[in-house]
Amino acid sequence: MKDLKLAIIYYSSTGTNYQLAKWAEEAAKEAGVGEVRFRKVKELAPEEAIAANDDWKKHLDATKDVQEAGMDDLEWADAYIFSAPTRYGNLPSQMKQFLDTTGGLWFSGKLANKVVSGMTSASNVHGGQESTLLSLYKTMHHWGAIVAAPGYTNEAIFAAGGNPYGVSVTAGKDELNQPLKTAVAHQVKRTLQIAGWVKAGNK
Ligand SMILES: Cc1cc2nc3c(=O)[nH]c(=O)nc-3n(C[C@H](O)[C@H](O)[C@H](O)COP(=O)(O)O)c2cc1C
Repeated sequence: MKDLKLAIIYYSSTGTNYQLAKWAEEAAKEAGVGEVRFRKVKELAPEEAIAANDDWKKHLDATKDVQEAGMDDLEWADAYIFSAPTRYGNLPSQMKQFLDTTGGLWFSGKLANKVVSGMTSASNVHGGQESTLLSLYKTMHHWGAIVAAPGYTNEAIFAAGGNPYGVSVTAGKDELNQPLKTAVAHQVKRTLQIAGWVKAGNK
């Protein structure tokens, strides 16, 4: 675990996925990861759209000092945790734009064998929580990354709503509570554990 490097990369308009990403960071440190980088992707929405939504504006201001994710973070890490809300069952354009700038790394094979899993949120239980994670994982498959979905490998997953693709939150309805935090911790630990196996087997 100590030789592993983890990049946590998130997008959040109103703070839900920021909180999930923060829990992931805490869990990674508790699990004894070597190094962890906590990164947001660049906000791309027009100022008028942000200004029209108080929560969005507040969250943007509150996280202005979080470092933006770059290609160096992807190259550096052995494992990634992504977190992003649904947009009509899909990834938000901010996260998609970040993923769409990875062509250089991808062409040179540098994203292959990275171990990854994702988390998400939607306003509704059936509002796209699973399809958003599957959208994320499509890109991961093209990278040749190894998706470490939680499946049903721990009781914590059932207690957090039972999404086997990754922790997901019904934003505004689910409390951001201990069962969700425990499920995030399990997902992070499992992702790191698999990254450790891959790294050890690759020596
Ligand atoms: C353009 C847009 C599209 C959205 N589409 C959906 C949707 O299809 N289903 C749903 O349940 N929630 C939808 N939402 C709600 C967001 O997923 C919700 O605000 C988000 O999960 C909160 O996460 P955050 O606090 O990290 O930004 C949408 C929100 C926006 C702004």
